[in-house]
Amino acid sequence: MSGSITADAVIGMSFGDEAKAKIVGTLLDKNKYTHCLRYCGSSNAGHTLYKDGKKIITHIVPAGALFGVESIVGPGCVLNENLFLSEIDELSKTIPDIASKVKISTAVHLVSQAHLNEELKEDKLGTTKKGVGPASRDKYARVGKRAESSAALKEFLIDMYDDFLNTEQEKVVICEGAQATFLDIDWGFYPYVTSTHCGIGGIVNNGIPIGSFRNIYGAAKCYDTYVGSKAFQDKNDPVLDKIADVGQEYGATTGRRRQVNYLNLDLIDKAKFLNSTTHIVFSKIDVLREIDVWKVIEDGRVKDLQDETSFVKHIEEKFSNLNIIFSDNPYSI
Ligand code: IMP
Repeated sequence: MSGSITADAVIGMSFGDEAKAKIVGTLLDKNKYTHCLRYCGSSNAGHTLYKDGKKIITHIVPAGALFGVESIVGPGCVLNENLFLSEIDELSKTIPDIASKVKISTAVHLVSQAHLNEELKEDKLGTTKKGVGPASRDKYARVGKRAESSAALKEFLIDMYDDFLNTEQEKVVICEGAQATFLDIDWGFYPYVTSTHCGIGGIVNNGIPIGSFRNIYGAAKCYDTYVGSKAFQDKNDPVLDKIADVGQEYGATTGRRRQVNYLNLDLIDKAKFLNSTTHIVFSKIDVLREIDVWKVIEDGRVKDLQDETSFVKHIEEKFSNLNIIFSDNPYSI
């Protein structure tokens, strides 16, 4: 007999970098969670959050560990031992007992040095070069190595079913997304995608039962950004460069400048449908406020909503059956 599971989730609605970690951090501050589950991605992610006034960036270590919550890297992730262990070392300088809060599912596939080297040699897609594609290829070709075979990770390993899902404990889990719906291997703009499942289906595949979801937070920004080789930004529109400058749109993992476009409401609508979101948090409204340009893409074309009030009203009306939150700071929602 297993105890009940209640799950909240934070899922990217666009192309990543939508301030998911800020939402996760706020929820960890507000609610009592027994666990945090990182359900997709790898060291490719760069999650920035502020804790007790300090800026902390994590990559594969789930944010819950920073808050003393038992945190699991689930089987939907792939992981490089050395990158993981050096991230733990780095975070230990701020949070000395962090290692004791992190668990890794035995079924997580390992990113080897050969996988990393492969992307360093050739990468047409503009990946983060963390070996996610090659490791996932080997996973699905059934020739990969799993965390269960790693001596270096031994102290972190758990069997996801026996040690987490099928225990008597009542669990309240925050599921921490990485990347986003339109970087998802199946729902993104293939081949300009990552190689794991970034949406709600990915969470269910980590063993979180469908009926256990409570609140599903979609993370978006008031404009869109994308890093990678796909052409995304209209180079003839100077406003988009201005947004990138004011918004300081540089990747937390690779430092690359992000391409910018106006908020695509058609895609948000699709992501809402695919992920059954109950809330959407639109971050960085302060950036549009500074530039005072209030455009969105809707029905495939750019619409000018003229001022902040019309912008907010338009979005709230469009998603009137959801809880819509606008955020204007990097610390909380
Ligand atoms: P990969 O995940 O490193 O294979 O990269 C595949 C695509 O996803 C590239 O366009 C990356 O820039 C993008 N990507 C991967 N992780 C993130 C992220 O955390 N934020 C934004 N883009 C990401």
